[in-house]
Amino acid sequence: MLSRSLARLVRRNRALTCAYYLIDDWRARRRLASGRIETRSGRRHAELDLDASLAYVEGVVDDYLGYAGRDRFAGRLAEIGPGDSLAVTVLTLARGAREAHTVDRYRTIRDPARETAILEGLRARYGCAATLAERIHEHAGSPAETFFTRTDLAFDWIVSRAVLEHLYDPIAALDAMATRLAPGGVMVHRIDLRDHGMFEGHPLTFLTVPDRLYRAMTVGSGRPNRVLAPEYTAWLRRAGMNGGVRVTRLAGVAGTVGPARWDALDAAARREALATVATIRPRLAPRFRALPDEDLAVAGIVLVAERS
Ligand SMILES: C[S@@+](CC[C@H](N)C(=O)[O-])C[C@H]1O[C@@H](n2cnc3c(N)ncnc32)[C@H](O)[C@@H]1O
Repeated sequence: MLSRSLARLVRRNRALTCAYYLIDDWRARRRLASGRIETRSGRRHAELDLDASLAYVEGVVDDYLGYAGRDRFAGRLAEIGPGDSLAVTVLTLARGAREAHTVDRYRTIRDPARETAILEGLRARYGCAATLAERIHEHAGSPAETFFTRTDLAFDWIVSRAVLEHLYDPIAALDAMATRLAPGGVMVHRIDLRDHGMFEGHPLTFLTVPDRLYRAMTVGSGRPNRVLAPEYTAWLRRAGMNGGVRVTRLAGVAGTVGPARWDALDAAARREALATVATIRPRLAPRFRALPDEDLAVAGIVLVAERS
């Protein structure tokens, strides 16, 4: 009872919330340093029933193909941050990939019975062979930031969903991925730029925390890194690859949008997001206060980059 009231008190107070994340992140860094990579965070399928799990997996895979404008996967694929199931990776194999690698800084705890049921469900729907999972090479305990600098493999596809926002250095990771992308290869990353429930109240409260403090609250635990849409757009331009950044969510607006360019989004939704930004702008940390309203109003994107 006391601990629940204490937790409520902490959540309602920004300074206490920051203090909680500082301690929690310090503990996460100690766990990682001692080689303990297991985590319960990122467990999506634990919360879904079987039909919802299968629908999620199919939706993610359809999205990858749709965003890339291709009909099938091919060659060697890497999925970053598979979370608590290999089902997305298995389905990419069933739909054309020859070999797959999963890359994860942590090892998300899986429910073996649920995982078996999801893979059986995919087999029933797609007639895929039980041996597909044998073509997956799992690299747990390998952050994307270092995996792609150390491998000499070339990839035809590199994909992720709800992952790049958790990387401690997503731009360095993208640079490394670009060097390992085969000619004609494509990367698709769907990135959720929200605060993942870190703070109560205004959805952009996490952007008010000074940079050094925020990093110490997040770098070991994989909490959102606050790398926002303009940094991904700048990376794509600098990398000199074909592709684009499209908006999938807006700050303070429920549900998803697009994916579309800012200008092509519903005008009322854009106004609502800009109004959300206006109510917190004076309190933002200096780096974010310097950004245009439109950049702060984007709360989710999909990044596609192709090597010609
Ligand atoms: C929110 S989960 C998303 C899981 C899955 N893609 C999905 O759609 O449900 C984030 C995943 O990113 C992984 N992750 C976090 N930091 C990472 C890093 N630096 N390198 C690789 N994976 C990372 C987590 O362990 C987890 O598997």
